[in-house]
Amino acid sequence: MIFSKDTKAGRPPGFLYQPAETKGSRKPAPVSLHCEGVALTKLAQKFGTPLYVYSAQTIHERYEQFDQAFGDLSHTVCYSVKANSNLSLLRLLGKKKAGFDIVSGGELQRVLAADRRSAKRVVFSGVGKSREEISDALKAGILLFNVESESELATVAHCATHLKKAAPFALRVNPDVAAETHPYISTGLHKHKFGVPIASARSLYARAAKERYLRVCGVSVHIGSQITDAAPFGEAMSRVAELVRQLRGDGHQIDFVDAGGGLGISYQDARADFGKQVKEYARILTAPLRGLGIRLLLEPGRSIIGPSGVLLTKVIYRKSNDGKRFLIVDAAMNDLIRPALYGAHHEILPVVRQEAAKETTDIVGPVCETGDFFARDRELPAVQEGELLAIMDAGAYGMAISSNYNTRPRPAEVLVTGKTVRVIRRREKISELLRGER
Ligand code: LLP
Repeated sequence: MIFSKDTKAGRPPGFLYQPAETKGSRKPAPVSLHCEGVALTKLAQKFGTPLYVYSAQTIHERYEQFDQAFGDLSHTVCYSVKANSNLSLLRLLGKKKAGFDIVSGGELQRVLAADRRSAKRVVFSGVGKSREEISDALKAGILLFNVESESELATVAHCATHLKKAAPFALRVNPDVAAETHPYISTGLHKHKFGVPIASARSLYARAAKERYLRVCGVSVHIGSQITDAAPFGEAMSRVAELVRQLRGDGHQIDFVDAGGGLGISYQDARADFGKQVKEYARILTAPLRGLGIRLLLEPGRSIIGPSGVLLTKVIYRKSNDGKRFLIVDAAMNDLIRPALYGAHHEILPVVRQEAAKETTDIVGPVCETGDFFARDRELPAVQEGELLAIMDAGAYGMAISSNYNTRPRPAEVLVTGKTVRVIRRREKISELLRGER
């Protein structure tokens, strides 16, 4: 188990309670949640709520911890763009020489817009790539296509032949390994739509090798997301390692193994030691690959960006229906859908530290659905109307899956670096939502 209880190392420095800066006052300064050197109360005042706030330091640290965990093994960390695709965040990671895992032509455009030079470190996954998307990726000169079916392989061959440009590819194999996570985000079983059965991979590679413009160069796998036990990663890699040996025996040149993403985070426990967790993940994942002399590709999304962001929201109303308490906040399921969609848990903290007695309450948004909740029966110090809450670990699959449901403009996003704040996406206006309609 990666997520054992004895890994506590103190809350990471991105989001900490700190006393406010008070000049000359004798009263004890209120203690409030900060992102690095900036009080979240100040950000709410300046930019309004709901607001996504990211800590640059946390992104740097987590990326480095992830990268270093693989030590001397030849590897590239290809950040999974789908987790959070904001251009500024991609640029920040591109500067660190990260690669990128993309799943659409749109994500390719984002990577190119953020950092043109990282195209050569892009891997392209996904079960339904269109001809146009494949051709664009070929033109951009990406590192690897992770091909997920025989039909897709034929399409890649067609596009590559048309452009007279070799397409480097790996087959994404489905290792039939069960990983414990939410059923919507588990991908490594034969009943899932992803990849090709590992047993039929060899014959597909053999056929592909006959195509002039297809270049066999790796094997890829991704077993799911928010996986908190390392064992299934090791199991999947054992099967992949065996396949690599067989393919080499068949005469193919296999340079890459793409291990996908999926390392979970501690949504319940902000003090978990990520450095230790990721080392354990790396140890188990790489064990079956030692001695193969491959270059390992990794596609982490959540584990880098999840704990690097919070969703800041304000309590609009308090309400009690026959004793059942609700805090109605100004963020909603359209801004962060994870609780509604997966029943996911996010810690919710009062921004100003409260001495008030605790109460049990639901925290819900204004959207007209019972599923529009962030927490149910949560114990919190009593928070009053107008006060702020921080929904923690919202950096991954938060803004990325946001929508305009109920014609709600999406939040702004800000990136904090020490005491510097940059708006990296401005708040949407309702007029923008109506544009394009008749
Ligand atoms: N690579 C592939 C091929 C993927 O499909 C995914 C995620 C990743 C990498 C990145 O996985 P991560 O390291 O972030 O676990 N919306 C869900 C998660 C969906 C994950 C989809 N694929 C959630 O909010 O939990």
